[in-house]
Parts: sequence; structure tokens; C-alpha cells
Amino acid sequence: MRLRAEATDPASVEANVLAVPIYKEDEPFGEDLANLDATAGGVIRQAIDFGRFNILEDYFALIDGGDLPVEHILIVNGIRRGRGPWRARRMAGVATRALQGKGAARMALWLRDGEDADGFAAAAVGAVAGTYRPMDLYGRTRDTDAMKRIVEEVVLLGADQAELDRASIMADGVAWCRDLSNRASNDLYPEKMAEEVRALEADGCTVEVLHVPEMRQLGMNALLGVGQGAEHPPVLIAVKLPGWAAGGDRKLAIVGKGVCFDSGGISLKPADKMDEMKHDKSGAAAVLSAARTLARLNPNAPVMAVAPMVENMPGGRAQRPGDVVKAMNGKTIEITNTDAEGRLILADALHWAETQGATHLVDVATLTGVAAMAFGELVSAYFAKPGDWGDQVKAAADATGEWLWEMPLATEYRTQLDTPYADIVNSGSRDGSLIKSAVFIHEFVTRPWVHLDVAGTAWMAADKATFPKGAVGVAMTTLVRLGLDFAAGEQVA
Ligand code: BES
Ligand code: ZN
Ligand code: MN
Repeated sequence: MRLRAEATDPASVEANVLAVPIYKEDEPFGEDLANLDATAGGVIRQAIDFGRFNILEDYFALIDGGDLPVEHILIVNGIRRGRGPWRARRMAGVATRALQGKGAARMALWLRDGEDADGFAAAAVGAVAGTYRPMDLYGRTRDTDAMKRIVEEVVLLGADQAELDRASIMADGVAWCRDLSNRASNDLYPEKMAEEVRALEADGCTVEVLHVPEMRQLGMNALLGVGQGAEHPPVLIAVKLPGWAAGGDRKLAIVGKGVCFDSGGISLKPADKMDEMKHDKSGAAAVLSAARTLARLNPNAPVMAVAPMVENMPGGRAQRPGDVVKAMNGKTIEITNTDAEGRLILADALHWAETQGATHLVDVATLTGVAAMAFGELVSAYFAKPGDWGDQVKAAADATGEWLWEMPLATEYRTQLDTPYADIVNSGSRDGSLIKSAVFIHEFVTRPWVHLDVAGTAWMAADKATFPKGAVGVAMTTLVRLGLDFAAGEQVA
């Protein structure tokens, strides 16, 4: 999809559809909206009065363009004011998604409030995201050409073209991230992910792939134990940007959980919704696509992406509850639950990243079902040490329209992970288990570190006005923004 900046007035822009946000505060209409509606011949007011659009219920309404040059007006629910890029990104996504399958090749988007550069960029990323069709991944014979129509050009009124060109690269990254997460486990297994990522060499990146023998030599037994039950062997993928080597005392490693399928292993999951566990590689998808995007936006970013890739499967060779493994950093772990596998592969991947010279770490993981229970699909939980490093990650999220909320890294719970048989267990009692999962990972890092639990936010369980069922590409833009901040020397912690 093309993104075009125009300075045109919304009342005279030429497009198939003009998307117009409406807010709760718009009763009565503000001056800007009243003016547009007057030029349109009052069609917006009529539609609302008739009940075509109710701010408390509807995400959008597609109405006639009235006296405007556009064929239709798309009223979009402004949802919530005051969240800047988050609101712009979401609203733009709802708009282009609403036009899937419609004869709307060209959509103009009027953001009304006069967004800043971050707001326009977020809207651009959202607009492209709204055209994403998961059904194009493997194809569906029943889809007609008419059904496959998407918006081909979005005109962002008041935006800057150079900014939109950069946003377009960001949006490509989000789409790639979603594809990686959405791909089926029989199609995308650890080795195959490594093959896909080799393509990043064309962008100037160095791609290293560690296989089982090398990982065994390095002592990555926490990671290897998770993967030992699967036919597809694990790999550890590292992508170093051109700017990584010159990073000096500020090198950012982004580490993503890459479980291509999480059956739970011997601690087998129930059958219900187990298909969703193909998305357990969403953290890896985020860091790898962030690396690709950074390589295209600013290759000087001192960033490395690390993706430990495994399949967590039961079987005769699988790890058992009660097994004890020694992680790469020398600590021993008693496996009390083979389904708490994400923290095990992150333990070795994060430690390895430190041995490569990382000074700052961010991990992204679909780590705990309770994060999804507590935070739902909109908000990702994060843990930070020290706090101002967390603040910087949060600021990067805010700037690109992602929603993070900090949780306490209560290391006081550490003793609840004690066992006579090892330094630590991988899974303690249920109470406080979201915090304890972070406390576990904390044992394996020594540098400034942020842990993002995206278990609730990485994919949608069903179609929504905002996103279709499947991956949303969470955390990708946050990581890219953070990498750009590093490249610009903006680093506090
Ligand atoms: N990948 C899952 C977490 C998950 C579950 C994400 C459901 C999204 C939806 C993770 O590996 C897992 O199984 N976690 C366990 C941890 C428990 C055994 C301590 C969980 O959340 O039940
Ligand atoms: Zn998992
Ligand atoms: Mn699991």
C-alpha cells in the first residue's frame, strides 16, 4: 500500500473514502467537524441522529459522501482521546480494515487534532496494518477477487512525505512480523526460521545460527532441554546490525522467545486452543523483524536480535518434570513444569547475548497465560531493572502507539523458587506466578534489562474491528524505536 502526504482540506480531497474520527467530546460538533459537515450537506449529523453511528457502540460507520468530492465518508470512533500515537494507530487501522473487500482503492484520513510526527507515523503504520489479510498466507480458494480488495493508497492530510516513507518501512516490518507469527508450525520450524532470516544478510546484517553441537559446547542446556523432545532440532539465531560492532559501551540486544510450537511437553497442555501455540514464536518474530526494519531505517543502530528457536514437544526423548539442567551461566535448574519453557530458553539466550557484549537487554515473550488473563489484548506487561531503563522502553512504546504497563520485579519471591536439587525451579506455586516468571529470568541477567510479557497482546483469538484473528505484530515498533534512539545516542540508563 502507498502512503501519501497531502496538505489538502478534508472538504476538497479526492478519494473514494474520507475517514473522519469522531470523539465522545464531539457533542455538539466542534468547529472543524461542523464545517466539514456543512460542506458535505449535513450527512454526518443525519447519520448520527438516525443511529447509523453510536459513539458508545460502533467502531465505524460507512455513509454517503454527500456533497463532498469523495464517494463515501467513513466515520471512525476516536475511541479514547489523549493517547496520541496509540489512538492514531488504532483508529487508522480500524478504518482501512473496515474497507477490506470494498471498492475503496484510495482513502483519505483526516486526523483533525493536528497530530505531531509520531502521531502521523503511528497512523500510517496502523493504516497499513488494517489492510493485512491472514488468509493470503496460504490462500483460500473460496476468496473472490472482490473479497481480496484492500485500500491501495492512503492520503494522510497534513503529514510529511519523508516521515511517511519511513513509516512505510516500519509497516512492512510489522507485516513480516505478523506473517512469521501466523505461519503454521509444520511450515515454520526452527531451521526454517534460520533460513528465512538469512535473507537479512542482503540488508547488511550478520546472521549467525548456532546448532545443537555448538550450543552443547557452550553449555546452553536450559535451551537444549526444552528442544530435546522434538523432531525439529533447536537453533539459536543472532542477527547483528552493521552498527553493532561499533556500539562500544552501548549495545542493545533484543531477545525474543521463539517457541515454534508449545504443546507444553510432558506437562501437556489441554487440547482446547492448543492451535494458538503456533504463535508462541511471536517474541522471536518481533525481534527479528525489528532487526530487519532497523537495518533499513538506520543500519548504524548498535543492535543485535537473538532468537532462541525450539519446539516444545512430548515424546520418549522429551525432558521430564524433575529433570535438572545446568544453564550456560552455570546455575542449575530443576524442571518442575515442562510447560514453563519460555523462561528456560530465554535464560540461555540472554546470557549468551551478554557474552556477545550486550550492555542493555530487552526480551519479548509470550511467557505466561496469567499475563493474558490480567492484561487482555491491549496492554503488555513489563518488568525492568533498573527502572529508568524501563522508562526508556516505555517511552519508545508510547511514541509508536504501543501500550505497556510496568509490573514489580519483586525479588523477595526468589526464595519461593528454591529447591534442594538445584539453584532454582523453573515454575513455582500459582500465586504471583507472573512476577515469579520475571524473577526467574532475572537470575540469568546482569545488565540493564526489560522483560516484556506479550502473552495477551501478541495475537487475537477471534476477528475484531481492530485486528483479524491471529498475530498483530506486537512490540516490533517499540523495539525499532528503541534501536533508533540508541543510534541517535539517546540513552539514559
Ligand atoms: N506459551 C505459554 C504461555 C501462554 C499461554 C501464552 C496461553 C498465551 C496463551 C507458556 O509457555 C506457558 O505455558 N506458560 C505457563 C507457565 C506455567 C507452567 C508456570 C502458563 O502460563 O500456564
Ligand atoms: Zn510457551
Ligand atoms: Mn509453555
